[in-house]
Amino acid sequence: MPVPPTPAAQFEGGCAFADGAYVPLSEAKISLFDWGFTRSDATYDVATTWRGAFFRLDAHMDRFFASLDKMRLAIPYTRAELREVLHGCVRAAGLQDAYVAMVCTRGVPPRGARDPRMAQNRFYAYALPYVWIASPEKQAAGIDLHISSRQRIGPASVDPTVKNYHWIDLVQSLFDAYDLGRDTSCVVDADGCVTEGPGFNVFAVKDGVVHTADRGVLEGISRRTVIELCERMGIPLRIAPLPVELVRGADEVFLSSSGGGVLPIGKVDGQTLVGFPGPVTRRLQDGYWALHEEAAYRDPVSYP
Ligand SMILES: Cc1ncc(COP(=O)(O)O)c(C=O)c1O
Repeated sequence: MPVPPTPAAQFEGGCAFADGAYVPLSEAKISLFDWGFTRSDATYDVATTWRGAFFRLDAHMDRFFASLDKMRLAIPYTRAELREVLHGCVRAAGLQDAYVAMVCTRGVPPRGARDPRMAQNRFYAYALPYVWIASPEKQAAGIDLHISSRQRIGPASVDPTVKNYHWIDLVQSLFDAYDLGRDTSCVVDADGCVTEGPGFNVFAVKDGVVHTADRGVLEGISRRTVIELCERMGIPLRIAPLPVELVRGADEVFLSSSGGGVLPIGKVDGQTLVGFPGPVTRRLQDGYWALHEEAAYRDPVSYP
């Protein structure tokens, strides 16, 4: 394992780990022929650090290794080594609040070969400054969520519990949302129930009960945090298919993501939610950030 570098000017703004070495972001590259690029044949995970400590890093590593298994991908590092690389990227970049990605691509099979077993899988990681799905200012002003009629790629085709780069549906729904003057979007499943959006899970609160989809979605670590907070706080929770009408008629709607935690929604397709900013969302949002101070969820980075 290479020794993580000490912070230096070249790592200002971020640090990557590619082909077994720590490199500045501008030097982190993948081949044009990597199946991760040509076939979206890859899996990844995104953890975060907040005030100098990883949040629920074990949960992110568990999900990443589970995704690797399901995709028949492998990385040449143990769990302890992966942790070291992720810490190394954050430490070198000198970031307190960071977006930390780990990525495994299928790699490049020998020229002319079409057998994925012949490709050597590649591993990349990088740390960037923390990324918000929507800034705290935008959250306060009220995010306008578009519920797209586009369907998320079917779970029978691509397992949504594997964090994946099959985002064409999500990206096209974002264009639709912007065309309509909305801020972000979510997509539905074949039964017309709300699934997820570009980088987040969706929750609706109706008559004090918190609802979120039980299927067809990535099992977000932030989603899990919200579920656990509901249990801790005694907030009724229903994990079941999430009809569009339930979201449109909800008292409160919020998103969950590593990119900002619990993000309140102000409007659904231009209609202001009567309950915005809602008390349940606010309790969960406060709870989400309070957990960042609990030792069991923190893995502090040791800066030089
Ligand atoms: C499609 C999708 N759904 C949900 C999420 C939320 O997952 P997490 O809470 O682990 O960030 C993400 C995160 O990027 C995502 O890409």
